Amino acid sequence: MKLDGNEKESSIIESSALGDERGYLTVIEGQNTVPFDIKRVFYIYGTLPDIRRGFHAHYKTRQALISVSGNCKVYLDNTKRKMDVLLDSPTKMLILEPNDWHEMYDFSPDCVLLVLASHLYDSEDYIRDYDKFIKVYSQR
Ligand code: TYD
Repeated sequence: MKLDGNEKESSIIESSALGDERGYLTVIEGQNTVPFDIKRVFYIYGTLPDIRRGFHAHYKTRQALISVSGNCKVYLDNTKRKMDVLLDSPTKMLILEPNDWHEMYDFSPDCVLLVLASHLYDSEDYIRDYDKFIKVYSQR
């Protein structure tokens, strides 16, 4: 599958908590808050604390990850830098670029990890083999 030419870096976006005596509300808008049109939404929950999931990168899909409840960590590797990000607030959003190999771990029992994606699900858009990931992305 062809790469989409996107060479952007992953980033953290902080949203506002619109709070009043009734509680809080946080808004995410495609193209405005998130730098892409949202085509798909899924959420990961009920993950045991010793489980690590993900272990892939993409050719095209960009994603925004928000831990809307509880917390978890995300390990990122784009072949040039490796880092760990703690998602511990419903106002904190991690933008993952296609070339971010990612692994999610250390899920709290109440963690609900919301994922907004730029493309519909397509198993062909996944790179699940780490050596292949390095081959595809390291010469860029
Ligand atoms: P998987 O990619 O293994 O999850 P993770 O990246 O968290 O390790 O996805 C689990 C299952 O769900 C797998 O059978 C593929 C399926 N799936 C869909 O059908 N649609 C989707 O949008 C996603 C993300 C997964």
